[in-house]
Formats: sequence, C-alpha cells, structure tokens
Amino acid sequence: MRRLLSAFFFSFFVSLSSADVNPCILREIQENAYVCECNITYCDDVAPLGTVGKNQGVLFYTSQSGSRLQRSDFPPNSTAAPNSVQFIIDASITYQTIFGFGAAFTDAAGINLDSLPTNMSDFIINQYFSTDGLGYTVGRVPMASCDFSTHEYSYDDVANDFNLTNFNLTAEDFRYKIPYILKAKTAAGGSLRLFSTPWSPPGWMKSNGRMKGGGVMKGDMNGQYYQTWAKYFVRFFEEYHKAGIDFWGTTIQNEPTSGLDPFWKWQTMYLSAAMERDFLKGTLGPTLRGSPFAQNLSIMIVDDQRNNLPAWPDTILLDPDAAKYVSGIALHWYEDIETSPSLLTQTHQNHPDYFIFGTEACTGYLPLQGHPELGSWPRAEQYANDLIQDLLNWSTGWMDWNLVLDMQGGPNWVGNFVDAAIIVDSSRNIYYKNPMWHVMGHFAKFIRPGSVRISGEFQNLHDANVEGVAFKAPDGSRVAVILNKDAVSQPRSLNFANHSQNQIK
Ligand SMILES: *[C@@H]1O[C@H](CO)[C@@H](O)[C@H](O)[C@H]1NC(C)=O
Ligand SMILES: *[C@@H]1O[C@H](CO)[C@@H](O)[C@H](O)[C@H]1NC(C)=O
Ligand SMILES: *[C@@H]1O[C@H](CO)[C@@H](O)[C@H](O)[C@H]1NC(C)=O
Ligand SMILES: *[C@@H]1O[C@H](CO)[C@@H](O)[C@H](O)[C@H]1NC(C)=O
Ligand SMILES: *[C@@H]1O[C@H](CO)[C@@H](O)[C@H](O)[C@H]1NC(C)=O
Ligand SMILES: *[C@@H]1O[C@H](CO)[C@@H](O)[C@H](O)[C@H]1NC(C)=O
Ligand SMILES: *[C@@H]1O[C@H](CO)[C@@H](O)[C@H](O)[C@H]1NC(C)=O
Ligand SMILES: *[C@@H]1O[C@H](CO)[C@@H](O)[C@H](O)[C@H]1NC(C)=O
Repeated sequence: MRRLLSAFFFSFFVSLSSADVNPCILREIQENAYVCECNITYCDDVAPLGTVGKNQGVLFYTSQSGSRLQRSDFPPNSTAAPNSVQFIIDASITYQTIFGFGAAFTDAAGINLDSLPTNMSDFIINQYFSTDGLGYTVGRVPMASCDFSTHEYSYDDVANDFNLTNFNLTAEDFRYKIPYILKAKTAAGGSLRLFSTPWSPPGWMKSNGRMKGGGVMKGDMNGQYYQTWAKYFVRFFEEYHKAGIDFWGTTIQNEPTSGLDPFWKWQTMYLSAAMERDFLKGTLGPTLRGSPFAQNLSIMIVDDQRNNLPAWPDTILLDPDAAKYVSGIALHWYEDIETSPSLLTQTHQNHPDYFIFGTEACTGYLPLQGHPELGSWPRAEQYANDLIQDLLNWSTGWMDWNLVLDMQGGPNWVGNFVDAAIIVDSSRNIYYKNPMWHVMGHFAKFIRPGSVRISGEFQNLHDANVEGVAFKAPDGSRVAVILNKDAVSQPRSLNFANHSQNQIK
C-alpha cells in the first residue's frame, strides 16, 4: 500500500481564538495532488491568528492530503508521546532580522490578473498582500520587459537617444503593473517595499544590438552608454513616482552571468563582478544618489545564483568606494540543489553588515518540466526546504517569482514556461491555489518583518526527516515553522520545549 507523505508545518504563537473561515474547495488533480479552487463567488481564506494570550499557542497545519493552513489551538501541556520529536527554542541565541517575503509584478502576472473579473483579481491581490491573507511585504518589478512579457521592449527603443528624450513607460506598465502595484500597496497597508530589476538595457546600447541574447554594454566602462543606462534607472523611478509609486530598492542587473551566453533565449546583459563594481562606483551609485527620487534606494548586488558566493560579494564589498552604495546581496534559487546553503553563512561572515535576500524562485523551470503541475506536493516541499535552509543561513527573506501564471505557465514570449503559486484558468473564470501558495503563507504570514531568528534545535529525532526554524516576533511571541518530509502512515508528534513542554500531533 502506498504510504501517504504527510508533512506538517506550523507557525506557533502565544494566542488562542476561533473564527469562521471559508475552507479550501479541494480538487484532486491526481493521486495526492490537490489544489484549492476559487471562482467568482468563492475562495478559501486563511483563519485569523486571533488574540494573544500568554503561554498559549496556535498551530497552522498544511498537509499533502489536503489540510491547508488549517488552524487549531495549541494543545496546552499535553503529555509527550513516547516517540515524539522535540524542537527546543532558545530566544537568548539570536541571528538575522527578517526583512520580508513576496513575489514579482511581471507583465505575465498582470496579464493574468487582467484576464479575470476585477473582483477576482482584487481578491488575489488582497490574499497575497493583506495581513488577512499571506501578508506579503515585498514586491519585485521588472524594468521594462523580461521573458515573462509578450514581446521584447525597453523604455527607449530609439537608437542613440543618449539624452533619453524618448524615454517613456509602456502600455504594459500602465495596464499590467501600476494598477496592481497600487492595489497591493493599499492591501499591504503601506508596508509594501518595492524594488526594481532590469533584464537588459535597450538593444541599441548592447554589443549584440538587441535585448535578447548575451552581450555587454557598448563602449568603455562608465562611458556614455553606461552613463545613459544609469540615467535610464533614474527616469524609471521618476516616471513611477508620477504614477504614485516610490521604490525602496533596486538590483543592478538580473542574472548578469547569463549574459555570457550569446544564445541566451531572452533579455540579459553580461556584467562580471568587477564590471558590476566599476559601474556601481563610477556611474550608477553617484547617479542614483544624486536623484531626488532614487537617492535613498537600497542597492542590491549579485541578483544571480548562489554559486557566485562568496567571490562576487567579495569583489564588490572589499572595495570601499563601491561598498558604500550597497545595502544587500540578492540571490536566486535555481542552482540551490547543487550548492550548499552554507555559502550564505560564509558570505555573511565575510560581510556581516550587508543583508542577504532571496529575490527569485519558481518550480518547473528545468527542461521537460516547464509547465505548471497543479497540486504538486514535491514542489511545495522544495519551496519549504529552500526557505528553511536559506533562513537558517542568514537570509532575511525569500521571494517567489510570478504572482500568477496561466494554465500553460505563461505568458512568456520565449516559451520559458514555469509554475506559480496561483494558476489562472480565465476561460472558466477560475483560479487554483497550488500547495506552494500555502507554503509561502507559513512563512510570510507569521514571520513578520522585524522578527529575529532564534535558536531552534531538534532533539530525540527518532530518525524523523524534519527541518525547522524559529523566530522571535516583534511583539515578543515565538514562531516556529517545521517541515516534516517523512512518508508516514500516521502523524508523528512534535514537542515544543523551552522550559515547559507542549505537544503537537
Ligand atoms: C463557486 O464555488 C462555490 C464553492 O465550490 C460554489 O458553491 C459556487 O456555485 C461556485 N460559483 C460559480 C459561479 O461557479
Ligand atoms: C464579482 O462580480 C460579479 C459581477 O459583478 C458578481 O456576480 C459576483 O458576485 C462578485 N463576486 C464576489 C466574490 O464579490
Ligand atoms: C504547563 O506545565 C508547567 C510545568 O508543569 C506548569 O508550570 C504550567 O503552569 C502549565 N501550563 C498550563 C497552561 O497548564
Ligand atoms: C543632450 O543634452 C545635452 C545637455 O543638455 C545637450 O548639450 C545635447 O545637445 C543633447 N544631445 C542631443 C542629441 O539631444
Ligand atoms: C507615454 O506613454 C503614455 C501611455 O502610453 C502616453 O499616454 C504618453 O503620451 C507617452 N508620453 C510620451 C512623452 O511619449
Ligand atoms: C531620503 O532621505 C533623506 C534623509 O533621511 C530625506 O530627507 C529625504 O526626504 C529622502 N528622500 C526621499 C525621496 O524619500
Ligand atoms: C546552514 O545550512 C546548513 C545545511 O542545511 C546547516 O547544516 C547549517 O547549520 C546552516 N548554518 C547555520 C549557521 O545555521
Ligand atoms: C525560554 O528560554 C529562555 C532562554 O533559555 C529563557 O530566558 C526564557 O525565560 C524561557 N521562557 C519560558 C517561557 O520558559
């Protein structure tokens, strides 16, 4: 008989209450693969945490077999079961402060939101960004097009327009990005922090003549092309400011190492670590600091895979003239299976004053996988595992990629289809929440900005395949998120211990 893979997470607070919630309408896509189905009149919501009482707790639980952020009161002081696993929390040992969790406002996300009736897209935005939902507090905004666009475009495609006289936002910004960012800002109650990322400068600035495909900036380092490119950043922030949107930060270049490949299938530009350093200190840093709309931006370096650690940050941050412009180190997850999360710890030890932040992750990106797999539990588990490992190694947060994609995993103008936490079937006015959505909730909803990671250690594992991470919230309560990767026919019990012990089944 096939054993159920039963996984649980929980986020545990000192709190008790009960509330009515709309449960998930479970659809079994295939054996052990469930989505929550939402339509124009119905969508499941997340139970509120409730009011906080001392020495009380709340458990939120998600399982492969269909529980989704299911809330229950923390059983007070039940007796430990004989084979229970213990998770010992010690708030006197502290690590990094959490910045937040979120996802990206790509053209594809906006096109899919736009394909639904307004009250459905509003509901999706609210469920992502309000504290009644997942409480996302970070949003990534591509500057002009990326692969998750319907075509290749920049904000100034007029060749040799070095003064950017023809710079303008596009129909995509006005229809697919700005309206949803504004709604998300409202839903997040003012706590949304946005950062931008360029995939490529206009094609006329690049050695290969177009945004797609590897290439470098034309001309000398910090020459007129680089200077125009820095001005382009500033123009972007000015135009978004006019639309009511101010940014918290920016990365310098999306996945700069991909620009080494002349046959790269979508928008990119190559920068080595030394080039990123020289552009930042020579042109981009001073230009941004000199603009009233960009002067306070948090600038993040790398925005590429983990295997660039620790050399890339070393190259930039050991140069004080470049380092003075840098706030943090942005990382993508695509090669995490081949690289150890301890590279993050090593990077932190080299540069403790710079935060580490996960800026992009999605599943279904490998060849032959490139499509949504509705209800996939392994993909949810991949998210949870990576989130926990990054958080255990000094990451201050973690971001999903596209907020919403269609049934094909797009639109994407080069066919680089992938999965997303929410998949829309606009032909039926339905959307599906994948288990990845609830996994993001286990982290984003409970590990609020300002939380501090504390020590959390398992004891009496009894061969259990579990991972966990613990935090102290700004209000003093404790939060733990636990992933059980065991295939088990019945749930294990888990004990929380500080001085007293509590048990969770
Ligand atoms: C939406 O889903 C709910 C719950 O499954 C169902 O009762 C309702 O009939 C559906 N509405 C539409 C318009 O399909
Ligand atoms: C969304 O709007 C439609 C059409 O105006 C309406 O029938 C439906 O009840 C609304 N759904 C919700 C959840 O408010
Ligand atoms: C839990 O047990 C501890 C130690 O036995 C005791 O001091 C405490 O009062 C108990 N708490 C509750 C809520 O019963
Ligand atoms: C760009 O602006 C500079 C300074 O305002 C001006 O001298 C120059 O003529 C302009 N160049 C073009 C091509 O418009
Ligand atoms: C910029 O784009 C908007 C929307 O497409 C348009 O209304 C506006 O006229 C454009 N401005 C310039 C200077 O081209
Ligand atoms: C940037 O920070 C300075 C100093 O705190 C402040 O005076 C200024 O208003 C800020 N600028 C923006 C655009 O927020
Ligand atoms: C980093 O991750 C590794 C691998 O999961 C783990 O063993 C290690 O304890 C983590 N480092 C820290 C500082 O927690
Ligand atoms: C939990 O452990 C910490 C550190 O050992 C201790 O300071 C704190 O008083 C303990 N809290 C409770 C509620 O027992």
